[in-house]
Amino acid sequence: GAAVEVDISALKPGEKITVEWRGKPVWIVKRTPEQLAELPKLDSQLADPKSERKPSELTPEYARNEARSIKPEILVAVGICSHLGCSPSEKFQPGAQPSLPDDWKGGFLCPCHGSTFDMAGRVFKNKPAPDNLEVPPHMYLSDTRLVIG
Ligand code: FES
Repeated sequence: GAAVEVDISALKPGEKITVEWRGKPVWIVKRTPEQLAELPKLDSQLADPKSERKPSELTPEYARNEARSIKPEILVAVGICSHLGCSPSEKFQPGAQPSLPDDWKGGFLCPCHGSTFDMAGRVFKNKPAPDNLEVPPHMYLSDTRLVIG
């Protein structure tokens, strides 16, 4: 399948862009230092914090770390819920909406059945979605040029 090259030089902290790869939406999110700092604190609330389930399918070797990424600040993830395939929406701000917990630190909410994911696409416990969001194969050609696929 055709790889997709993306220029991320204009992406600002706290922003997300979506590109299409193999007919799927792929999100590229530039996380803020605050968002990154939250990740280790969330482990006990997550179903698979270390991405140990289905590692070869969902998380390439180079993304098997806390941030699930090559560059800590940049998340690259397929924006399709691991439950029944809806597209979660971003809720980056704390207190983004009433159905989210009071201590919400930012992440993604699936509108279909309420699964929630953190800023590394890791699914919270006791949600319908069984797995973390997929990190697609990707690499950097330079600091600002990313290739997906
Ligand atoms: Fe996302 Fe069901 S499809 S929670």
